[in-house]
Amino acid sequence: MLNFLFWYLVFFLRLRKILFASTNESKFNEIFLYLKTFNIEIEFVRFESIEIQSNKLEEIALQKSKEAYGKIGEPLIVEDTGLFIDSLKGFPGPYSSFVLETIGNQGILDLLLNNTKRSALFTSIVAYKDSNKHMTFSGDTKGTISEHITEGGWGYDPIFIPEGSTATYGQLGITNKMGVSHRTHALNNFAEWYSGNYSREQEF
Ligand code: IMP
Repeated sequence: MLNFLFWYLVFFLRLRKILFASTNESKFNEIFLYLKTFNIEIEFVRFESIEIQSNKLEEIALQKSKEAYGKIGEPLIVEDTGLFIDSLKGFPGPYSSFVLETIGNQGILDLLLNNTKRSALFTSIVAYKDSNKHMTFSGDTKGTISEHITEGGWGYDPIFIPEGSTATYGQLGITNKMGVSHRTHALNNFAEWYSGNYSREQEF
């Protein structure tokens, strides 16, 4: 009987687990912390894709999740982020990764030198894929680009000040960042949908 119960539980937990396909462990840490509050278990799986060229984050996330599911074959999410700076007409947007690798945060500050219009939008798209569902969920956080690079965080964290704060994402630290971040908003939309559609009752 105990044996049966053990395997029953193992099977149940396996059903509840979702993979996060990415190369970015900093993203995973944030996603893991947030989805835990919804009792959604998430596991990191290293997955590198050749990102398609598109002006739309959603298209990139859909393509990436399709490719990841094709290779891994288990329910998973991917996440794609873009930083859209208003006075640069939305640059770097979907090219945020390439821009960070090339000109970096200092390059962004140089482009905005003496520019008082520093508003920007961080957008996150979470794409979920399993055998019959393929969905996206988005989240935004408005803010401004700081004058200087601060300490803390990763990626653009040291130069992005979310609306309502005087500190950058980097200075806020992971917990406070998660309270206001673009990723949290997207994850919240995902988690509400997932909890509603994949409740325990429906799985059995
Ligand atoms: P990705 O293509 O979604 O991995 O992200 C595009 C770029 O934005 C990468 O250079 C990331 O390092 C950066 N990025 C993504 N999310 C965040 C974040 O929450 N804070 C700061 N930078 C981020």
